[in-house]
Amino acid sequence: MTTYQITTELSTNKKEKTPAEKLGFGQIFTDHMFVMDYEEGKGWHNASIEPYAPITLSPAAMVFHYGQAVFEGLKAYMTEQGDVQLFRPERNFQRLNTSNARLCIPPIDEDFALEALKELIRVDREWVPTEPGTSLYIRPFIIATESYLGVNPAKSYKFMIIMSPVGSYYKEGINPVKILVEQHYVRAVVGGTGEAKTAGNYASSLKGSELAAKQGYSQTLWLDGKENKYVEEVGSMNIFFKIAGTVITPALNGSILPGITRDSMIQVLKSKNIRLEERAIEFAEIVAAAQNGTLEEAFGTGTAAVISPVGELKWLDDVITVNNGQIGEVTQMLYDTLTGIQYGKMEDPFGWTV
Ligand code: COI
Repeated sequence: MTTYQITTELSTNKKEKTPAEKLGFGQIFTDHMFVMDYEEGKGWHNASIEPYAPITLSPAAMVFHYGQAVFEGLKAYMTEQGDVQLFRPERNFQRLNTSNARLCIPPIDEDFALEALKELIRVDREWVPTEPGTSLYIRPFIIATESYLGVNPAKSYKFMIIMSPVGSYYKEGINPVKILVEQHYVRAVVGGTGEAKTAGNYASSLKGSELAAKQGYSQTLWLDGKENKYVEEVGSMNIFFKIAGTVITPALNGSILPGITRDSMIQVLKSKNIRLEERAIEFAEIVAAAQNGTLEEAFGTGTAAVISPVGELKWLDDVITVNNGQIGEVTQMLYDTLTGIQYGKMEDPFGWTV
């Protein structure tokens, strides 16, 4: 690990905390943020923890024009013993560097980033909410700051971490959501940026989500960008189905985000000897399973959304109801195991918590 000095300036104007029932997702920010700069020739430098505040950028900053922006999402959880836990945070900084590599952004020092995050959480510890189902959502991100309109990798960047106390991401919480299978728009293609966590992927998902919302669906199920027949992701989550006792999830093929919750749930399923397949899944297979009565469960996984059961899938003119719109047994077990480990209510046999 490279040792960078972190300078800390504490806020003299602390904000009031919002009551847990009004938290929602990502609207309230803690008193401090972490900032670090990059310049060509100088590398990463100027690490600081400072009061949360707007930043100043040139209107020509390259992030505004060519979208060199990557981000991560992870959470800090308050345990009943009063400890603050992170869940596999090293994986987020590893993935941030994978995203950096795809977008020609210089790598960060992953160990230092984790130390900086721990220090930021120590400073804003009182912002970790304590009520059941709440957590502190952490958003590390990197943007290109160089003022230049040529299409090249930028020569300067900002790495920042901001934090937000949150409740549920989806208003349904752990209740099953209704999904529209998108027929026209795609989220990403193999060879594109789908497996990187870059802002542009989320921008390109907005149109489909907007159309789904207009029809009363809370999320979109994305099919592949080439043949429009293989299942990729759901909303901003990875997707799993249980068909005739076997859990299946799309294999990581280059256009699917390698979710940390996805990977964790695969490990939990394997540890419980539940049959699991990672492979290409044609949506037609889901339709056939629904028709012959073997589609037992469907759920999404993600940091923000945790485990989100799918109760209904609309495809063309057909509506598929999954498990009578109820949460399935395996979905519930995964939710209980994941949140049990994250909130320190359960033993962590995988060594995931920090
Ligand atoms: C997360 O689950 O942390 C995500 O990144 C989804 C987000 C876009 C809300």
